[in-house]
Amino acid sequence: MKILAIESSCDDTAVAITEERKVISSVIASQVDEHTLYGGVVPEIASRRHIENIGALYEKALADANCTINDIDAVAVTYAPGLIGSLLCGVGFAKGVAYAANLPIVPVHHLRSHIAANYIDTDLKPPFLALVISGGHSHIVYVKNYTEFEIIARTRDDAAGECFDKTARAMGLPYPGGVHMDKVATGDGTAYKLPKPKIENNDLDFSFSGLKTAVLNTIHNLSQKGEQVDVPLMCGCVRKTVCDVLLEHIELALEKTGCKTLALAGGVSANSEIRERFADFCDKKGVKLYRPPLSLCGDNAAMVGAQGYYEFLAGTRANLDLNARATLDIATLK
Ligand code: KG4
Ligand code: ZN
Repeated sequence: MKILAIESSCDDTAVAITEERKVISSVIASQVDEHTLYGGVVPEIASRRHIENIGALYEKALADANCTINDIDAVAVTYAPGLIGSLLCGVGFAKGVAYAANLPIVPVHHLRSHIAANYIDTDLKPPFLALVISGGHSHIVYVKNYTEFEIIARTRDDAAGECFDKTARAMGLPYPGGVHMDKVATGDGTAYKLPKPKIENNDLDFSFSGLKTAVLNTIHNLSQKGEQVDVPLMCGCVRKTVCDVLLEHIELALEKTGCKTLALAGGVSANSEIRERFADFCDKKGVKLYRPPLSLCGDNAAMVGAQGYYEFLAGTRANLDLNARATLDIATLK
């Protein structure tokens, strides 16, 4: 069965044609250059660009897959969570196509699709543990089956990606900060002393706002003395600290759940230190690790097609009254 998949939750417009866990075509229009001018995503601009781009991407995805809309069996679309205006562009387009071609609509949760990026061209099967680290979320999720999820831990304040982006911005690095921080980071991560939140009472929840504040304070205190922060060394410290925290929490979560399979998901799973250190850690612990290829870590529609396939099998459908939602729990869909 062939799925037309659409993703527009933030600032990437993406369309893919997928068949079960295989990608037949996948196209993305990035808006990063325009948002870089403003130091972050401007929601109004993002929505306008989605509307401009989506029609041509739809045509290209079909052409690249060598098919027409008549070959498609269902339309899968990201409807939550994300920027509401951005989501509405994809949802509106998906409804139009589904209505015109008389196809079922399969609504897909954005974080479920990030996890599903790990299904593409692999043998990964639930149950497993997923570390979902993106710009807006940091979750440890127990994936019971393809459409049933349990949140084991979440962040109490900032997401990991948000921590990278905000501290990078304070050091004058361009948007998206996490990407640039990873590129310039050097050293062994000990040049500046940064705090790690303690895990108390086996509590697995994350907290990254203290780390962010410590970085901002260090920069401020240095500038009061007429000194400047060493940006590559500080980037190395932030990256190491975030990675340390993620590893400590995952180690505990694996112990608690007895899971022997772990999948990384979300834009931050492109981070070079996280990828390497998780690989080493899982090797030592005898845990099987799945990491999406770099091309599938950030937002894309191929992952929406992969999750959409399993949602379709589970009977998930939407009518033409489907609405976008800015926030939505991955497990309860409430
Ligand atoms: O999943 P994603 O593309 O969008 C959301 O759903 O949020 O994640 C975007 C986040 C941003 O915070 C970005 O800075 C971060 O992923 N990111 C990285 C790297 N590549 C992207 N963070 C650290 N290192 C990277 N290499
Ligand atoms: Zn995302």
